[in-house]
Amino acid sequence: MLNSMRFYFFGCTITLTCFILSFHWSRSLHWSEKPLQKNMEEHPLPSEGKLPRDTITPLKDNRTYIIAPYYDNRQRNIIRTLGIVHHSEVKELYCYFFCVNTTVLQVKATIDLHKDRFDFVYGLADIICDDPVGCSSTHVAIDRSPTENISDLINFPIQNRVRGKPTAKFTVCFSAMFGNYSNVLQFIQTIEMYKILGAQKVMIYLNNCSRQMEEVLQYYTKEGMVEVIPWQIQQYLKPSKRWRYPNNITEIGYYGQLSTLNDCIYRNMYSSKFVVLNDQDEIILPFKHRTWDNMMESLQRENPDVGIFLFENHIFPQTEVSDGNFTNTSSWNEVPGFNILQFIHREPDRPNKFNARKMIVDPRAVIQTSVHSTLKQYRNSIYVPLETALVYHCRGPLQHKLNRSSLIKDNNIWRYSEPLISNVNYMLNHFLKSLHSEPPKVGPSISHTHFNKSK
Ligand SMILES: *[C@@H]1O[C@H](CO)[C@@H](O)[C@H](O)[C@H]1NC(C)=O
Ligand SMILES: *[C@@H]1O[C@H](CO)[C@@H](O)[C@H](O)[C@H]1NC(C)=O
Ligand SMILES: *[C@@H]1O[C@H](CO)[C@@H](O)[C@H](O)[C@H]1NC(C)=O
Ligand SMILES: *[C@@H]1O[C@H](CO)[C@@H](O)[C@H](O)[C@H]1NC(C)=O
Ligand SMILES: *[C@@H]1O[C@H](CO)[C@@H](O)[C@H](O)[C@H]1NC(C)=O
Ligand SMILES: *[C@@H]1O[C@H](CO)[C@@H](O)[C@H](O)[C@H]1NC(C)=O
Ligand SMILES: *[C@@H]1O[C@H](CO)[C@@H](O)[C@H](O)[C@H]1NC(C)=O
Ligand SMILES: *[C@@H]1O[C@H](CO)[C@@H](O)[C@H](O)[C@H]1NC(C)=O
Ligand SMILES: *[C@@H]1O[C@H](CO)[C@@H](O)[C@H](O)[C@H]1NC(C)=O
Repeated sequence: MLNSMRFYFFGCTITLTCFILSFHWSRSLHWSEKPLQKNMEEHPLPSEGKLPRDTITPLKDNRTYIIAPYYDNRQRNIIRTLGIVHHSEVKELYCYFFCVNTTVLQVKATIDLHKDRFDFVYGLADIICDDPVGCSSTHVAIDRSPTENISDLINFPIQNRVRGKPTAKFTVCFSAMFGNYSNVLQFIQTIEMYKILGAQKVMIYLNNCSRQMEEVLQYYTKEGMVEVIPWQIQQYLKPSKRWRYPNNITEIGYYGQLSTLNDCIYRNMYSSKFVVLNDQDEIILPFKHRTWDNMMESLQRENPDVGIFLFENHIFPQTEVSDGNFTNTSSWNEVPGFNILQFIHREPDRPNKFNARKMIVDPRAVIQTSVHSTLKQYRNSIYVPLETALVYHCRGPLQHKLNRSSLIKDNNIWRYSEPLISNVNYMLNHFLKSLHSEPPKVGPSISHTHFNKSK
């Protein structure tokens, strides 16, 4: 099922054999502190077996979990490896560069732990090593020890050294999808809304979802709109379902949300003009413009020095149902999940509370990001006014006690009802056909011929 659609980012295989490695210390690198390594033994270059097998790779210490190294020459030539580290126990790491000339160079890394960790013991870190001059490494390994046996190291392919051509104007990055996620109708509507607004790609870090969601993800993956990245973080760390309030059991917040968002920015650094950072129940909805394209063109024209655009988040509670009397939506009754066209009332901002924002960024302007703002960046950020757009956030209420007259009617989403209904119906038609054409499955499972709306 899912395995067939899984796209392992690191799945590339290279065969490099019979290389003779020597082990050098480069004096030209800033962060060198220790004397020259005298270890000049010959080592076979690690074979395929030493490539990462998952999106998350534990190092031997079980305190460092590597996601991926990215080449970054925006300020100087560095390799920035995104890794999840124990905040107090990981103080020293080394990069081992595998140069084209078969030399292995070891460089001491600086560890830049992201400021937002929300008190969990594990947090995202940038593990930064200068890219050795003349080395042109395609792979790098990371280790706690400066004298590790090279043949024991896992070799991570360095991403972004070769910049592909831009393939998308807008790429949407969700944080991890987890916990038997099954809000299928809202998910389909949200993906179709992104298409209408101008997105070409949605990246999903998949931890867990329902069987029907898996099938929907498979459909969109085939279509090319969705890219699924396996995110089995619970195999390595104990994730919390909340973004804060760690306890003595949970080790990392919100299934590693901050790691997925930063990884998504670096993955799309050169392939996408803009990256949209929001969750699967959120849509950045313009008021003045029809599409993100027009909106961003205008925002960029007015703010030429800005690379980070923050949009106000507004809750449209799923308890406040309105009927829009839309036709041609009867087939949606069979699909589990919420219908966003029924939610046109939003909660007012809470005075003296943090009112969240979500972002559209030029990924090349971002160094580190948190959820509601960036942490380190090369360009300015602005708050986009509510008259221009808001984040339509359709979920359970935050302010439970509000009655309808205290909510603000806002049916901006209905401006899109016509193309949205048509797109969703097209999708459901083709999706159900694709299920019919699948060979029958063995064993007990959900019916694959139609949805079964759970009440
Ligand atoms: C790391 O975890 C693995 C698997 O749980 C275990 O076998 C190994 O002994 C651990 N290593 C250390 C240094 O704790
Ligand atoms: C390979 O390249 C590195 C980086 O330029 C250099 O330090 C090293 O001496 C070279 N090794 C050989 C055997 O030429
Ligand atoms: C490094 O590992 C290889 C393979 O496990 C082994 O043959 C070699 O003796 C080791 N070298 C050192 C210095 O431990
Ligand atoms: C979600 O978790 C359930 C229960 O552990 C498991 O059976 C299912 O395969 C998981 N689904 C995915 C997509 O990982
Ligand atoms: C996952 O959600 C689906 C749909 O709501 C439900 O039918 C199924 O029993 C759930 N599975 C688990 C393991 O909770
Ligand atoms: C976690 O803390 C609670 C109360 O503080 C304690 O009762 C429990 O034993 C602790 N659990 C672990 C695994 O340490
Ligand atoms: C929806 O249609 C019903 C019956 O046709 C009508 O009574 C109701 O006022 C309509 N509601 C809206 C919001 O247009
Ligand atoms: C409903 O859908 C059919 C085709 O599926 C289309 O011909 C018809 O115009 C649609 N009706 C409305 C009111 O959109
Ligand atoms: C709604 O809430 C407001 C403020 O709490 C209150 O004044 C009003 O009477 C309520 N309206 C209804 C219909 O319950």
